[in-house]
Amino acid sequence: MIIAPQFTIYDTPDELAENFAFELKRLWEIEQQAPFHISLSGGSTPQLLFKKLAYIYREGFPFSHVHFWWGDERCVAPDGAESNYGVANSLFFEPTKVPKENIHRIIGENEPSKEAKSYSDLNMKLIPIKNGLPQYDIILLGMGTDGHTASIFPHQKEYLTEKALCAVATHPESGQKRITLTGSIIRNARQIVFLATGKNKARLIGELYNNKKTKHPEPFRYFGNQKNTLWFVDQEAASAL
Ligand code: 6PG
Repeated sequence: MIIAPQFTIYDTPDELAENFAFELKRLWEIEQQAPFHISLSGGSTPQLLFKKLAYIYREGFPFSHVHFWWGDERCVAPDGAESNYGVANSLFFEPTKVPKENIHRIIGENEPSKEAKSYSDLNMKLIPIKNGLPQYDIILLGMGTDGHTASIFPHQKEYLTEKALCAVATHPESGQKRITLTGSIIRNARQIVFLATGKNKARLIGELYNNKKTKHPEPFRYFGNQKNTLWFVDQEAASAL
């Protein structure tokens, strides 16, 4: 039985970001008895969410149990606009003084294969193990217009089943090196949450929702239909549902 993925559809990206920010606040307030590990997605979609969280916690981030990780990072310096950490840090962590010890960035400036190994080890060390793998409370994912998610691109689908927790990926157009979580640890999350907005995501989302058969399913489809997957989308991204 395929449980159709659960979609929550908002009128605008701003309304989505506002509601999801308050959903995170609610979760962080009720689940304070243990560490809460959340993996952040990159790209532009989560930037509105970071701004909303920065406003909610403008007096300071009150939680020492919430730990921030990344599903993928570009192999660049941490202070550049290309850095997923750099964007989250300038929009959210710095303004709200999230404790440094709660931020576990992928060190993009390190040698990629060494960093993939060291981030895997850090995951194993700090995140509770379930089914033999680190289990995140939430893994946020975006999706590219080519159907990639995290930095698992269509030309590197072996990372969907790769044993290692992290791998060195290559952007298909720019050739940029990236570190990405692989399929096993993503699938093992308590909750996978896709955030997607914009018309350019609608076709692929519609194909997923309507279970369109395809010889070469895009990477995001390996996680998009799971029982532990939720979708938060705007009207435009939902326009082919
Ligand atoms: C990254 C991401 C990537 C992103 C999608 C969507 O590092 O770029 O993690 O998977 O989520 O490319 O990006 P947009 O939000 O910019 O559409």
